[in-house]
Amino acid sequence: MNPGAGWTWGYDAYAPERERLVETLCTLGNGRFATRGSAPECAAGTTHYPGTYLAGCYDRRTSLVDGRAVENEDLVNLPNWTLLRYRRLPADEPAGEWLTPDSDELRHSTVRLDLRRGTLHRGLYFQDARGRGLRVGHTRLVHMGDPGLAAQRTTFHAYGWSGEIEVESLLDGDVANTGVERYHHLESRHLSGHRTVFAPGGVAGLSCRTGDPGHLIALAVRTDTRPARPARPARTTGTSTGTGQLYRLPIARGRTVRVTKTLALRTTPAHTPGDPLAKAVEAAGEAPSFPALLAAHEAAWQRLWEEGELHVPGEPGRVLRLHLFHLLQTLSPHTADLDVGVPARGLHGEAYRGHVFWDELFVLPYLDLHFPDVAEALLRYRHRRLPAAREAARRAGRRGAMYPWQSGGSGAEETQEVHLNPRSGRWLPDHSRLQRHVGSAVAYNVWKYARSTGDQAFLYGEGAEILLEVARFWADSAERDPGLGRYRLRGVVGPDEYHDAYPHAAVPGVDDNAYTNVTAAWVLARGLDLLRELPAARRAELRERLALDEGETARWDDVSRRLHVPFHRGVISQFEGFGELAELDWEAYRAGYGDIRRLDRILEAEGDTVNRYQASKQADTLMLGYLFRPDELAALFARLGHRLDDGTWRATVDYYLRRTSHGSTLSSLVHGWVLARLKGTGAWRYCEEALLSDVADVQGGTTGEGIHLGAMAGTIDLVERGITGLEAGPDGLRVAPVSLRQLPRFAFTLCCGGHRGVRLRVLPGRLGVRVPAGPGAPLPLVLPGDRRFTVPPGEERWFPL
Ligand code: BGC
Repeated sequence: MNPGAGWTWGYDAYAPERERLVETLCTLGNGRFATRGSAPECAAGTTHYPGTYLAGCYDRRTSLVDGRAVENEDLVNLPNWTLLRYRRLPADEPAGEWLTPDSDELRHSTVRLDLRRGTLHRGLYFQDARGRGLRVGHTRLVHMGDPGLAAQRTTFHAYGWSGEIEVESLLDGDVANTGVERYHHLESRHLSGHRTVFAPGGVAGLSCRTGDPGHLIALAVRTDTRPARPARPARTTGTSTGTGQLYRLPIARGRTVRVTKTLALRTTPAHTPGDPLAKAVEAAGEAPSFPALLAAHEAAWQRLWEEGELHVPGEPGRVLRLHLFHLLQTLSPHTADLDVGVPARGLHGEAYRGHVFWDELFVLPYLDLHFPDVAEALLRYRHRRLPAAREAARRAGRRGAMYPWQSGGSGAEETQEVHLNPRSGRWLPDHSRLQRHVGSAVAYNVWKYARSTGDQAFLYGEGAEILLEVARFWADSAERDPGLGRYRLRGVVGPDEYHDAYPHAAVPGVDDNAYTNVTAAWVLARGLDLLRELPAARRAELRERLALDEGETARWDDVSRRLHVPFHRGVISQFEGFGELAELDWEAYRAGYGDIRRLDRILEAEGDTVNRYQASKQADTLMLGYLFRPDELAALFARLGHRLDDGTWRATVDYYLRRTSHGSTLSSLVHGWVLARLKGTGAWRYCEEALLSDVADVQGGTTGEGIHLGAMAGTIDLVERGITGLEAGPDGLRVAPVSLRQLPRFAFTLCCGGHRGVRLRVLPGRLGVRVPAGPGAPLPLVLPGDRRFTVPPGEERWFPL
């Protein structure tokens, strides 16, 4: 295999205006923590933004915004361990400038991410006015095998001069969360109580703590120089917030010297016995050499790629691999040991403050198929926060569980109460927390995980508690409208997010968002299925524990059949009254503004409001076509007393396609998926946009603040499940591919039917299924037209499509 083809991502020149995007896309992580791909030479400023984030490490602070106190919980930016300053000390001359990518002496710069090995390489070439050159190469890894380690090796090579090079290895705890311009008004300092130490063997350590909830964070860096003389730093500096170790390294013309920083990161909840700093210092001192670390790291990545790989030829395949790389760095097998959720922007930046939304809906399907242990851990994160969701429901006067729209450490609602429109400079009330549909996403993920993996223990255990409590919330929230003869869910916000109230209404929220109501009906129906399916003892236990009597489940059944789903002019209405809103002059707005993705901000800045218009931010009603097969959707609508035929669905798709601004990266993904499944024209345009979301930063500058994990994972899933129509379930593997001319062939491995490493190959008109040799039963396969086959372990079978 050509080691480079399709396995690298890179940039051949330094462009300050692009640097934040490069840093995000070159982030390295191992599921436990991640470090942005920033230049080691630079601290945070307008161009550079180094950041290191530990999964689940949040801190809560109060800020004064627009005259009111607001609380925010942020994913904390940890001390910068990558910082390295250097300058030439030519013989008998004063020291030169500290060199950085922004120096006038920079002649050339490259950045290369090696996806196979999980390493980042930055190369720089500096030359001064007298032609004296210095080549600098940094190689960084965040260890995928040992999730508490990272390393960075820097190589200096002198051209046309001899002398010394002065290098300072720094551990910088003077950091804050300043990565997102829009949040500059908010409290950004999360670290305090800094303590520094130096230990033998070139180790420097730093510990600090967050405030609420308290985490103790300790980083220790061992700095090694090669050739080994001088082994000791010429100077060490311990400031109130960090450490510095300064070396003067002799370098001769044509010779190379190396400086390696090896990081050990240790954290504990505050008030836990033991000193993480001592442990970090010990671990840094004992960490293997860079080559040994690299070898173990590469081996860990190799295993991940074997379990997770999706092979698609050409450029789409390279982008998909980058997406997979970032997904696996955010949620790796190490995540299975943690109590964390799916951060919408990865561990790659500070946008959305590292919060967890409904985006796991786009992420878990991939993990169900490839890394079920990780999927289960993410569901357990939700289960541990079931008490918080119950409490939220209780405070809202409801029974059951109301999961928060934005979730962080505690599981309380973390959605901000006001947000800034950067276009108008105005702070506006934020009602996005009314997106109650997030609870259905959690329940859906529980159900799908159990179907896909066959993990009944989870479904009957924690899974049942989540699903039944979300169902209960919906049944209790539904109000009967005697005039309509139906139940209604009022005062919500749908996935669209733009519509947070009716025009001129005094209260926020809209009524009967079709997506919310139909998914609520689905949750209620699955809750009832589950109660029937549970072993009798567990059913009795749950009924007792949840005080769930027959009268209540009878109401669930009634609500699941009679929730109101509005229609207008032959299409499903996004919510009651959507069809009566004004039509937007899309052409005029496109002509006037070019990019109208954030139409809400544009209209608000004009003194208008998007609430007046039939204009959606992202797929809302069409999300139904993303979650459910056409026959499933038709059955759900039939249960609700509506006939949803192909014509109505196509008309609905067409209607919303013309009224959506795609202000979220999730939008093009869902539209691409829905159109591909409908064999509709234009599917690829949306799929391609989803592929480009981050690499081309299509939302205009947001990728520099973190990846869009839902869109990244969703594109992988689009190929694996969307195009193949794949479903892993109790009757084996169902496959019903649709052809997409631009992706004629691809292959991937998955877990199914108790087999790990089932290999699927899709070629034009043919499907190959290989089941690895092993003791398991033959894998049942269901192809279109209900053609049923089995593939025995150790064999590959081909089927015409
Ligand atoms: C989208 C949400 C999404 C969130 C985090 C928002 O822009 O509208 O659907 O959950 O970003 O990715």
